[in-house]
Amino acid sequence: MKPSHSERDNLLEEAPQGLYDTIKMEERRVLPKVPVPPLKQTLDTYLKCVQHLVKEEQFKKTKAIVERFGAPGGVGEVLQKKLLERRDKMTNWVYDYWLEDMYLNNRLALPVNSSPAMVFPKQMFKDHRDALRFAARLIRGVLDYKALVDARALPVDFARGQLAGTPLCMEQYYHLFTSYRYPGLKTDTLKVQMNAASSAPEHIIVACKNQFFVLDVVANSKQLNELEIVSQLEKILKMSENAEERLPPFGILTSDGRTEWAQAREALTKDQTNRGSLALIESCICVVCLDEPSGLQPSDNNRALLMLHGGGREKNGANRWYDKSMQFVVGMDGICGVVCEHSPFEGIVLVQCSEHLMKYITGSPSKIVRASSIRELPPPRRLLWKYNPHIQGLLEASRERLKRLVNNLDMDVFKFKAYGKEFIKNQKMSPDAFIQVALQLAFYKCNKRLVSTYESASIRRFQDGRVDNIRSATLEALAFVQSMTDERAAFTAITGMAIDNHLLGLLRIAKELNMEKPEIFCDETYLASNHFILSTSQVPTTVEMFCCYGPVVPNGYGVCYNPQSDHIIFCVSSFWENTKTSSAVFVKALKEGLLEIWDLCNRSSAAATKVADSSQEASQPHKSGK
Ligand code: COA
Repeated sequence: MKPSHSERDNLLEEAPQGLYDTIKMEERRVLPKVPVPPLKQTLDTYLKCVQHLVKEEQFKKTKAIVERFGAPGGVGEVLQKKLLERRDKMTNWVYDYWLEDMYLNNRLALPVNSSPAMVFPKQMFKDHRDALRFAARLIRGVLDYKALVDARALPVDFARGQLAGTPLCMEQYYHLFTSYRYPGLKTDTLKVQMNAASSAPEHIIVACKNQFFVLDVVANSKQLNELEIVSQLEKILKMSENAEERLPPFGILTSDGRTEWAQAREALTKDQTNRGSLALIESCICVVCLDEPSGLQPSDNNRALLMLHGGGREKNGANRWYDKSMQFVVGMDGICGVVCEHSPFEGIVLVQCSEHLMKYITGSPSKIVRASSIRELPPPRRLLWKYNPHIQGLLEASRERLKRLVNNLDMDVFKFKAYGKEFIKNQKMSPDAFIQVALQLAFYKCNKRLVSTYESASIRRFQDGRVDNIRSATLEALAFVQSMTDERAAFTAITGMAIDNHLLGLLRIAKELNMEKPEIFCDETYLASNHFILSTSQVPTTVEMFCCYGPVVPNGYGVCYNPQSDHIIFCVSSFWENTKTSSAVFVKALKEGLLEIWDLCNRSSAAATKVADSSQEASQPHKSGK
């Protein structure tokens, strides 16, 4: 439902600044700016969020620090005032702060630690030509979707659930094919090309046997058709098989830590040829990786692992370029999906795009293109690299670090089949809150405590809104899981308040003012509350596919869940190197917990029915007496 004009006027805020085109202005204007919550509200919520997660003594200390920070005339007020000024001046006061804090300043390697993957249904390719046809169809689907994005013709998304009907910011869609994350020595840079359509990139990079090829998707001002793309991909496959021309696996450098990759990139760019190759990769629409058969069973676990890290150098780990936002994988063995660089957009946008592509691929068969309509096209170009022993050493070091990452990832894809979101809705409960409580219960069963938990909550109903954090390890959740494990009764729902962006904003303002770091941000509690042992996210799909990602801390779990009407898919990840975590143990506890909550719901419904029946019986004479 679109908002009426009067609703739009109510939502209208000050026109955004910057180089936005008219359509974008129009879209943004209907959305409010991200608010800055009152200082007291955030500080009170912060204390409420952490009280049960830290020791009593520590909490006393934290409380005193927070009170000093929030006192009238204190540091908090000064920072809050500046933050409100920033909000007035900018389209979105938190966007840059958040982007740097969440992604660009993070020095960890992109695979596993940052880039989520979407696993497509296993394909049954008869031969390599079949796989190339799939890849060509996928590329046509990308061009089709990109045309919609470029024309700003995607229908505006609207919120569902409680805020049904609220329009959502579409900005993230415009970053899908235009973004590139450059590695930096201290911090990365996310560049989004918002060029005029005339100078938009018209090539895709195809990775095959660790070689990179430029595939122009436009020839003589006309896009390639599906058969032409198949024919170009055939040429790529052939060129990649030529052992004499084969170059070292340069893509592996992008799988390394960001500082290491930045250093390697500096070494590469000393050479003109390398600069040219990098420029072509950095300006492409997307990367398509034609993977060798992995030799692994196509189980959900293996497919998730292969999407997240490619299986290391021995498999397809170097057949990647992780800086590019959209990287499609087409395995000759039918293992397919997409791995994305996360900083330009959220999983929900990735889902929308992936679903469009899957529908495009499986939809009506492509128009029969007559053989004569295949144009004689120049072959795709292989990207060339110049290297020396120093660069070869860097490739070797990246290979070793990727190997460790690959060996470390413990992934468990679990399909819970006993019930799905319909059962939960019938209990008059929010499926998301229900699943979050089940995750808290699983963690509590394994560790006898709760920990700081991240749950991404979309704030796309604001201009340029990305996400904030629902801290789902609430006091109420603790009471519930204790009652479940102690077999005492009571069930309270979880609630969450977004305080993370606000606290980050205050911290960054203090830095900008060159102030000494306020003690609230040096406090052990603050550090612990930002160490997300449980990192969770709901990524629902309407087409058969699932999303997965790795943990964000060495001793943590990454849990991505996809609620369907009669089942729920969970992708639980952790690191083997940490002896305290185990994805299989967590999944076992999760399954047990979900069944126990189910049992509790059934028992309380049965009890409610009994009460209703007996009260009906009791009221019968009265009723009939009327
Ligand atoms: N009784 C009955 N039904 C209920 C209910 C209740 N008490 N509470 C909610 N429901 C219904 C809703 O109306 C909704 O119905 P619909 O499927 O017909 O639309 C459905 O249950 C789902 O609602 P719920 O589970 O409460 O959550 P949600 O879908 O609103 O999602 C968040 C909650 C936090 C996950 C969501 O707001 C969000 O932010 N999603 C984005 C997360 C994200 O960014 N992920 C990617 C990160 S990379």
